Amino acid sequence: MTDTRRPPSEAPDRSLGLYIHWPYCSRICPYCDFNVVRGRGRTQQGEALLEAAVRDIGRQRSEVGPRRLVSIFLGGGTPSLLPPEALRRLISESVAAWDAGLDIEISLEANPDDASIAHLSEIAKAGVNRLSLGVQSFQDEALALLGRNHSGAAAADAVALARDLFPRVSLDLIHSWPGQTPQMWRADLETAIALEPEHISAYELTFEHNTAFGRARDRGRLTPPDEARRADHFALTDEVLGEAGFEAYEVSNHARGRAARARHNLLYWQGEDYVGVGPGAHGRLMRDGIRLASEAPRAIERYIAAIADDVATPWEALSPEDAALERLAMGLRLKEGVPLRDLAVLAISDRRIAALVDHLEVRNERIAARPQSRALIDRLALELVRD
Ligand SMILES: C[S@@+](CC[C@H](N)C(=O)[O-])C[C@H]1O[C@@H](n2cnc3c(N)ncnc32)[C@H](O)[C@@H]1O
Ligand code: SF4
Repeated sequence: MTDTRRPPSEAPDRSLGLYIHWPYCSRICPYCDFNVVRGRGRTQQGEALLEAAVRDIGRQRSEVGPRRLVSIFLGGGTPSLLPPEALRRLISESVAAWDAGLDIEISLEANPDDASIAHLSEIAKAGVNRLSLGVQSFQDEALALLGRNHSGAAAADAVALARDLFPRVSLDLIHSWPGQTPQMWRADLETAIALEPEHISAYELTFEHNTAFGRARDRGRLTPPDEARRADHFALTDEVLGEAGFEAYEVSNHARGRAARARHNLLYWQGEDYVGVGPGAHGRLMRDGIRLASEAPRAIERYIAAIADDVATPWEALSPEDAALERLAMGLRLKEGVPLRDLAVLAISDRRIAALVDHLEVRNERIAARPQSRALIDRLALELVRD
C-alpha cells in the first residue's frame, strides 16, 4: 500500500455510508473478537470518546467532501448503552455533515439486556429507524454457554417491543455452538420467525484465537460441531427461513423482500464507499479510479489522542489487485455475486472458473456462488485466483 494524504474528491451525489464504533460492553462474551472493552462507557473516557467521534465526523466531512449519506450504522460493542443525548448528537452531526435523504437508513446494534432495553424508545426518538438486536438464541442453556447477560424470554420481549418502536427490526442469531443439535437450531429459527422481524442474520459461531472460546477449544475444553453438522445447520437455515419468506441474499443474511436488505452492509458487499468513526473503524473510498482504505487506531486512548492532536487517519491506496481481491471476497457473499468487469485485473481464467463449476456459476456477466456452496466462499475466492 502506498500512502496518499491528498483529500479524496468525488461526485457529490455518490452514495456514502458512515460507520460509528462504540466499543463498550457490560460484559465481554467469550466468543467475541470485535474491538471491545468492558464497561458501560459512562466514564470520563466515554465522554472524551464521544467528543472525539463528533470531531472525527467533521474532519471526515472535510476530507471526503460532499456526498449523499445513505446510511449510518452505530455498531460495537454495545451502542445501545450510549446515553440517548449522546446518540442524538452523533446522528444530528452526521446528517448535518453530509446531504442525507429522508430515506436514510440509521441502524443501531442493541443487546437485549436490561440497561439497553430501558431506553429503546429514546433510541427510536433519536432517529434510529432500524434496530439490530443481538438475540443469539432464545434458549437459556445456549445463552448461558455463550456468556450472555439476558434470558431467552427477555430477548423475545425485546423483539416485540422493538417491533412497536422501529420501522425495521433485525435479529442476530448464532448457530453451531458446542452441543447444538439441528432440532435446537430449528427451534431458535422458528421462534425468531414467529416474532416477525423483517431481517435475520444467522451466523455460524467462529472460534477466534484471541478469545476465551478459542483458547478453550485449543485446550480441548470445548468441541465445536464437526463440518458435516455445521453444513446441516447452514442448509437448515436457508430451508426454514426460505419457507417463511426470507431470501438468503447474503451468506448469513436473510431478508423478507428486497427493501428489507441491510442497506449499510450492502455498501460493504457491493464495494461502495463508507467512512469509519471511532476506535478501529475502517473506511473505503473510490477516488480517481483508485480504491482508498483507512483504519483508525484500535485503542480507545490512542484514537482520542489522535483526534485531539488533529492527526488524520491516513487514506492509503490499495493496489488494483488487492482492491479486486477484496471486491471478490465481499461480492461472492451476495446471492447476485460480483460483476466480472470489477475483477478484470485479476485475469481469472475460464479454465479456473470451469474447474469450479460445481460451486460457481457465471450469469449475466456476474460470477456467483451456487446456493449449496455459499458456506465455502472464502475458499472459493482463493481457488479462483490461485496461479
Ligand atoms: C459486534 S456484535 C454487536 C451486537 C451486540 N453487542 C450483541 O452482542 O448483541 C454483532 C454480532 O456479531 C455476532 N458475533 C460476534 N462474535 C461472533 C462469533 N465469534 N461467531 C459468530 N457470530 C459472532 C453476534 O451475533 C452479534 O450479535
Ligand atoms: S458479542 Fe456483542 S456484547 Fe458480546 S462482547 Fe461482542 S460486542 Fe460486546
